[in-house]
Amino acid sequence: MIDAMSDIGSIDAQRPCNAPIGIFDSGVGGLSVARHLADEMPCERLLYFADSAHAPYGSKSLEEVEQRVMQLSGYLVRHQVKALVVACNTATAAAINRLRSTYSIPVIGMEPAVKPASALTRSGVVGILATAGTLDSGKFTRLQARFGREVRIISQSCPGLVEQVEAGDLSGPRTRELVQGYVDTLLAGGADTLVLGCTHYPFLLPLIRELVDPEIEILDTGLPVSREVFRQLDAGKLLADRKQTGGLEVLSSGDAVLTHTIVSRLWGTAVPVRVVKTL
Ligand code: DGL
Repeated sequence: MIDAMSDIGSIDAQRPCNAPIGIFDSGVGGLSVARHLADEMPCERLLYFADSAHAPYGSKSLEEVEQRVMQLSGYLVRHQVKALVVACNTATAAAINRLRSTYSIPVIGMEPAVKPASALTRSGVVGILATAGTLDSGKFTRLQARFGREVRIISQSCPGLVEQVEAGDLSGPRTRELVQGYVDTLLAGGADTLVLGCTHYPFLLPLIRELVDPEIEILDTGLPVSREVFRQLDAGKLLADRKQTGGLEVLSSGDAVLTHTIVSRLWGTAVPVRVVKTL
């Protein structure tokens, strides 16, 4: 493993505004966050790392995920990113504190939208869909303890869903069956507000909407995270020059053709993909 910390100080000191924003996820899920960044900040260059060769993170130990996250983030920082967006709830739960104490650039992570969901629910029950890694983390336990006094928070891990999105299957019979089972459990528990606590799940939103009553609220964190990225870049005078043309470049640890096909489909246009096997 390359020591991610060894070359940081000198790079941080002179990071230009027009450098890319580094974003990463276990795979293509974090593109749901990148989409908000691209819409809100069209002049920003986005350098997205899809760690598809190591997906899913959700069934790995938090220590394993933390180690991988430090490798990926070290790679992105050596490629001069001006900020890091951890577009993965599981990776945030595993490594956000270490990332923040390692790097001096802005590091923005994800957190299931428990707070807004607690304010929205009328039944008093909030249902969380997330990976086992996120739900088992100390970070989630603290979040639950913070809001669990006001409302009942019930959660459902969703094995298999990340794999379906990684395969580009957003609405086939197997995906439908998995989503139906997970959502039904939460609805049967009285939830009227569902939280998408994994960045892969917003790609399943059309399917989830089809399967639940229209009055069920469904929240994800992509937009608030994008606004926080803007706020931190603005505060650090790191926003890109308005004349810069932004865009998305994707790096992947997975298969080039498969990643290109899925990324382009999820993004809606052809996106350049570069395979990175060693970090
Ligand atoms: N997109 C991820 C998350 O937000 C990762 C899921 C996984 O790889 O299991 O948690």
